[in-house]
Amino acid sequence: MFSKETYIARRKKLAESLGGGILLFLGNNESPANYADNTYIFRQDSSFLYYFGLDLPGLAAVIDIDSGGEIIFGDDVDMDDIIWMGPQKSIAEQAAGVGVGKTYPLARLAGFVADALGKGRTVHYLPQYRFDNQIFLAEMTGQSPRAVNQGKSEELIRAIVAQRLIKEPCEIAEIDRACDLGYAMHYTAMKLLKPGMVEQEVVGAMEGVVISGGYMTSFPTILSQHGETLHNHLHDKVLETGKLCVIDAGAEIASHYCSDFTRTLPVGGKFTPRQRDIYTIVATANSFAAEMARPGITYREVHLAASRLMLQGLKNVGLIKGDIDEALALGVQGMFMPHGLGHNMGLDVHDMENLGENYVGYDPGQERSRQLGLGSLRMARKLVPGHVITDEPGIYFIPALIEQWKAEGKFTDFINYQALESYYDFGGIRVEDDLLITASGCRRLGSKRLPASVEEIEAAMA
Ligand code: GLY
Ligand code: MN
Repeated sequence: MFSKETYIARRKKLAESLGGGILLFLGNNESPANYADNTYIFRQDSSFLYYFGLDLPGLAAVIDIDSGGEIIFGDDVDMDDIIWMGPQKSIAEQAAGVGVGKTYPLARLAGFVADALGKGRTVHYLPQYRFDNQIFLAEMTGQSPRAVNQGKSEELIRAIVAQRLIKEPCEIAEIDRACDLGYAMHYTAMKLLKPGMVEQEVVGAMEGVVISGGYMTSFPTILSQHGETLHNHLHDKVLETGKLCVIDAGAEIASHYCSDFTRTLPVGGKFTPRQRDIYTIVATANSFAAEMARPGITYREVHLAASRLMLQGLKNVGLIKGDIDEALALGVQGMFMPHGLGHNMGLDVHDMENLGENYVGYDPGQERSRQLGLGSLRMARKLVPGHVITDEPGIYFIPALIEQWKAEGKFTDFINYQALESYYDFGGIRVEDDLLITASGCRRLGSKRLPASVEEIEAAMA
């Protein structure tokens, strides 16, 4: 948790950026896994954490912009809770720690909201991604659970996005820590991964590093010799010499700031000449994007420049032909990289995606492409100092997609389908780092960069 003044200043800034009304924040509740008392690990809502800092279930909060009042709603523990959970600070004591002087039992929230709505006041709220909160909000506002998210406040979303996108120095220090833990996680894999092991053994060791040194993984770990499947969560295969293993994994530390790194390792420790060629294209695109990323340029431009570089690389190895700029404009690169170059990162690994991807990643007036790949770009905005983004180019050989485009006769002037036939068992490659945009450019987050070049990876695995 940060200082009380940090939360007070954040709420003051938010309140000043909205015209009036009441801002309603719902914290998260415990979520049962298989029965009520056996819950998933608790994860607080990130906007609640950002403005109110309290990392426990069963809370809500309001900011009354017109009166300047702030209230945290929550229930003090009773003797039964003390018996099972031990003594806890009162809600009032906890609220005081983040600069909120007024607290009410949670049961008063519905009446508070109904009273405000009855007086014709605007109650701004965020779209809810947990069904219990969706139902709770629907009941409080007299809407159906299905319709309640349609009433989300765009004004509140835009104000929160504007604030949370620009990371404060105290947040950057936390993200650096999360990246250091992510480094330890990946470095463990580089040292451990050997032919004959099952993928899950490596996953377990990596996640053990995070659980020992942080809170949890920032998303379910991807570790697979089928890296062409972008988010492959199966880890049941035996590691085989000569295959590539994509490892996309990150750490969330106790303050809930995240990291997100991808490295692609050659099982057995040595890249084949063909793997080396494709790997070098991707690693070069990753570095090139980091060199380009600076204030004033849009991340859409960086995505396109990195894509162009990869198309040129694929042309050099005979998989692409024709004019590269024409291919880029048509979206040929989408077959090789059907995802975007990166996303915002912070308290969420895909920061604020629950508020709506386009609010977070697109400036007013920026249109989202419908092309495969570019259309999945989650961060297209003009970069400004304080943005934290991922830089994660990749090249994948997805047999079903290649076959489909080939059958459709798609881009036959640009794609060498015949040469691609021998790549059907290649898999995929992704290389991902986390960047902070600075006044003059960017820096990679974390105190050390994970091995990234062919030589560095082979040396680390030796
Ligand atoms: N690292 C997972 C993702 O960015 O989607
Ligand atoms: Mn990522």
